Amino acid sequence: MSRRRKVGILISGRGSNMQALIEAAKDPNYPAEIAVVISNRPDAKGIDFARAQGIATEIIDHKSFESRGAFDRALDAALERHDVEFVACAGFMRVMTESFVASWRDRMINIHPSLLPAYKGLHTHERALKDGVTRHGCTVHVVRSDVDTGPIIAQARVPVLKSDTAETLAERVLDAEHKIYPRALALLVSGAFRIEGEKLTATSPDIKLPVIIPAH
Ligand code: GRF
Repeated sequence: MSRRRKVGILISGRGSNMQALIEAAKDPNYPAEIAVVISNRPDAKGIDFARAQGIATEIIDHKSFESRGAFDRALDAALERHDVEFVACAGFMRVMTESFVASWRDRMINIHPSLLPAYKGLHTHERALKDGVTRHGCTVHVVRSDVDTGPIIAQARVPVLKSDTAETLAERVLDAEHKIYPRALALLVSGAFRIEGEKLTATSPDIKLPVIIPAH
């Protein structure tokens, strides 16, 4: 098997997607290893889980930096210290500077709780329910400097039920997130596609992009 690629995970909170990635990377055949988990919030729950798993962690508290740029430079330095090759944002609630995004271009991905391009931004479940949509879901995409944009690697769809509240819908979407994020990261780090501008091209005819997991 080819070398496992080193991934840094960025979190701000609970870290359930981070946990799904850590669990996936326990399989020696998984193409990525988690080199470091970095949180911008000292109280992020996910950090405890990562530590307990023996994974390197760093807290880089955005409040102790005078500018976004200074914070991003510290983040970049930490990723370099851990020899990170790819970055997975997992509930990382900071808008990044253009130069940080540029330095990780095509090597940084994010998971978002909607079927992008629908419902960029926050409160996606509440907004989907308000609109009365029957289908919702989540997306893993390559990060570009405009928030929640970038080439889409994978989406999972979930049904919206009449009885749903934002909480029950969030739970169903989160289950789907935990399935697609490890798959999408594996595709990225194993070179399953090339990224040309905003277009993804699979390197093998067996792979159809974006990967779509249908609602069931
Ligand atoms: C997830 O819904 C993710 O899609 C969004 O923020 C939430 C993070 O949850 N970006 P967790 O910290 O991974 O549990």
